[in-house]
Amino acid sequence: MRYTDAPLIEVEGLTKGFGRNEVLKGLDLTLPPGIHALLGPNGAGKTTLVNILSTLTPHDSGAARVLGLDVRGDKKKIQGLISLTGQYAAVDERLSGAENLHMMGRLFGLSRRDTAARAADLLDRFDLTRAAGKRVSTYSGGMRRKLDIAVSLIARPRLIFLDEPTTGLDTRSRQTLWDEITALAGGGTSIFLTTQYLEEADVLADRIMVLHGGRIVADGTASQLKERVGGSTIQVHDGHGNVTGEIATRGSALEVSRHLAALAAERPDVQVTVRRPTLDEVFLQLTGKKAA
Ligand SMILES: Nc1ncnc2c1ncn2[C@@H]1O[C@H](COP(=O)(O)OP(=O)(O)O)[C@@H](O)[C@H]1O
Ligand SMILES: [Mg+2]
Repeated sequence: MRYTDAPLIEVEGLTKGFGRNEVLKGLDLTLPPGIHALLGPNGAGKTTLVNILSTLTPHDSGAARVLGLDVRGDKKKIQGLISLTGQYAAVDERLSGAENLHMMGRLFGLSRRDTAARAADLLDRFDLTRAAGKRVSTYSGGMRRKLDIAVSLIARPRLIFLDEPTTGLDTRSRQTLWDEITALAGGGTSIFLTTQYLEEADVLADRIMVLHGGRIVADGTASQLKERVGGSTIQVHDGHGNVTGEIATRGSALEVSRHLAALAAERPDVQVTVRRPTLDEVFLQLTGKKAA
């Protein structure tokens, strides 16, 4: 099998511990190309998994393949096809944005000319052209993050790992990054991102995996996850934008219609909406914890 035909990521019975702390307790995953979000609270093991998949950390048992290549046996090949942007920006503060890009381009073996063209394009896409000549130490958090991602894209990776790409960013920078991530995926780059934010997973990912207690406790589209929890809520409004009551239902037409009939008989003028569970509620039910 050529690696191009293989799943993006395949994980079987993957375990990893640090001393007596069992962090990953047997993960199984098969992911096609696309945008995947690994959702989990702080300490769940997201960075550990990303580091294993990007060949930085060895796992204990089980198997992991990235683009059809084994993370143990084909480290170098994998490293040539992926890029990793970590939780903490890894750009050199003493250099300018453009210098960082040029350095990485040359390090990845691009010609001087290709590096220059690619750097100019990335600076433009990430709206950093005006700041290109300035030292990174003068950049805002959002600008650094963007540069960090631009740097990781210089060698046109097939797959990019983004470990909590928007943690600590303001709403506006977060939105810009989301737009860039979506555009990247549109251009054929697959993305594996980790996040503590439900909204981020919901907005960006084709598929969401929830990591909790060392296992993937849910895996599917946002809509499938909501389905899994089941049920809907009938909200009763007073007509002035206030919710005055909520009725939990399993969501079947019959059950909803009975509730509505009872309500209509008693208070015919009341306003109602039927609401599906939010991802927050899904997360709470799966993990017993509130999401960030
Ligand atoms: N290098 C390490 N040595 C010892 N323990 C570690 C190491 N890296 C991570 N851990 C532990 O593994 C657990 C998962 O950490 P991590 O993968 O960073 O979680 P997340 O990225 O989801 O916040 C935590 O309990 C953390 O303390
Ligand atoms: Mg982490």
